[in-house]
Amino acid sequence: MAKKIFIGNYKGGVGKTTAVFEIGAGLTKNYGKKSFLIDLYPQCSLTTICMETSGISFVNNQ
Ligand SMILES: Nc1ncnc2c1ncn2[C@@H]1O[C@H](COP(=O)(O)OP(=O)(O)OP(=O)(O)O)[C@@H](O)[C@H]1O
Ligand SMILES: [Mg+2]
Repeated sequence: MAKKIFIGNYKGGVGKTTAVFEIGAGLTKNYGKKSFLIDLYPQCSLTTICMETSGISFVNNQ
């Protein structure tokens, strides 16, 4: 049974994206769970973190 976790806060720069990534990675690494992270923000911070930790770089920094 899939569970959905939402992390939100009106204040910026308080660690929302970092928390989403760490919880998702932790569930997979420590508990063997499959996690599906959805990045809906145009800034693409979560996508960037996932790519960087996977060794994938943006082409021409775009
Ligand atoms: N637990 C923590 N301890 C220290 N630094 C942290 C921690 N969590 C996040 N940070 C740092 O704080 C900064 C902001 O984190 P993050 O981008 O996750 O915040 P955010 O709430 O998603 O920001 P935004 O509102 O811009 O989307 C980043 O530089 C991140 O590395
Ligand atoms: Mg964010």
